[in-house]
Amino acid sequence: MIVLGIETSCDETAVAIATDRRELLSDLVLSQMDDHKPYGGIVPEVAARAHLAHLPDLVRRALDEAKAKSGIELSDIDGIAATGGPGLIGGVMVGVMMAKAMAAARGKPFLAINHLEAHALSARLIEDLPFPYLLLLVSGGHCQLLAVDGVGRYRRWGTTIDDAVGEAFDKAAKMLGLGYPGGPQIERLAAEGNPARFNLPRPMMGRPGCDFSFSGLKTALRHALNKLGSDAMAARADLAASFQAAVADALTDRTRRAMTRFVDTYGQPTTLVVAGGVAANTHLRTRLQAAAAANGFRFLAPPARLCTDNAAMVAWAGIERLGLGLIDGLDFAPRPRWPLDPDAPPAIGAGVKA
Ligand code: KG4
Ligand code: ZN
Repeated sequence: MIVLGIETSCDETAVAIATDRRELLSDLVLSQMDDHKPYGGIVPEVAARAHLAHLPDLVRRALDEAKAKSGIELSDIDGIAATGGPGLIGGVMVGVMMAKAMAAARGKPFLAINHLEAHALSARLIEDLPFPYLLLLVSGGHCQLLAVDGVGRYRRWGTTIDDAVGEAFDKAAKMLGLGYPGGPQIERLAAEGNPARFNLPRPMMGRPGCDFSFSGLKTALRHALNKLGSDAMAARADLAASFQAAVADALTDRTRRAMTRFVDTYGQPTTLVVAGGVAANTHLRTRLQAAAAANGFRFLAPPARLCTDNAAMVAWAGIERLGLGLIDGLDFAPRPRWPLDPDAPPAIGAGVKA
C-alpha cells in the first residue's frame, strides 16, 4: 500500500510518500520560517499564501523523487491524505483542496487526517509499536497527554489550560531577546547557564490530574527580568537554563501522574512516546527517559525530523486509516478545531485551547 500525504496546517509545507512497509519514498518539508521571522511568530494569512505558492511544486517533486527511487507513478498510489485540521484554517484548506483534487482526478480514496493523530501514530512509522501506549504530545500548538488505544481511539488525560509548551518557549525566548522559534535558542543558551540560579515556579506540580499550565511561569520569568533591570542581558543564560528546568520538571511531573493512571487503567506499563517539536529538547528527553524507566515504561522518541511537523506522519496515518477502510468523502470540511478525544472533559479553567 502506498499513500501520498500533505501537511499544511501550520508553517511547514510538506509532502511525503510512504508505504505500509514503513518506507519513505519521499519526505519533503519546506519551512516558511523566513517568511514569519520579521513578525516574531506565525501570521496565518502569510502562511496560507505561502502554502498555496509552494504546494503544487512540492507535490511534483515528491512524485519525481518516488519515481527515481522506486519507479512508482501517481497511478501506483493507493490513497491521497492531507491534514484536515486542527490548525490554521487557510493553510488546512490549501492542503485539503489539493488532496481532494488529486483524489477526484485519479479516482483514488481521499483521507482527511487529524494532525494530532498523525503525531500520535508517528511512533508506529518507526517500528511496529503495539497499542496501547502513552503519548506526551508537546508542540507549538499543543500540550497533551493521551492514552492511544488504537487508530481513532484516544483518551485525553491532560491538556493545557493556557499556553502550549512550545508557545511558552517561544514567548520566553522573545522576552530574552532571542529569535523565533524560541525552543532551540533557549536550549542552546541554557547549555551555558546555571539552572539553579532562578527558582521559577513549576506550574501544576503535585496537583491532581494531568493538565498543564505555563502562563504563570511566563509571568515569573518577566518579573525576574524586570527585577534584574540592566543586569538582565548578562543573566540570560541562567534565565534560559532556569526556565528550561522548570518546564522539564512540570512536564515530567504530569507525565509521571499519567503513567500511574495508565497502569491503573491497563494493568501494566507499556511504552511512553514523546512527540511534537518540543520533543527535540535534549534535557526534556533525558528527564522523561529517567521517569519512564523508574515507572517500568519503555521510552520512545521518534527522531527530531519526525517530531516537528512533517508529511511523513500524515502519509503514515493515511496508511493506517486506509488499511482499516476509514476513507473520507470529498465533502469533508476542514476543521480549525478537532479534538482527538471528543469526550474528554475540558481542563479546569481552560481558555480557548482544547
Ligand atoms: O511540532 P512543531 O514543529 O510545530 C507545531 O505543530 O507547533 O513544534 C514547534 C515548536 C516551537 O514552539 C518550537 O519553539 C519548539 O517546538 N521547539 C523546541 C525545540 N525545538 C523546537 N522547544 C524546546 N526545545 C527545542 N529544542
Ligand atoms: Zn504539529
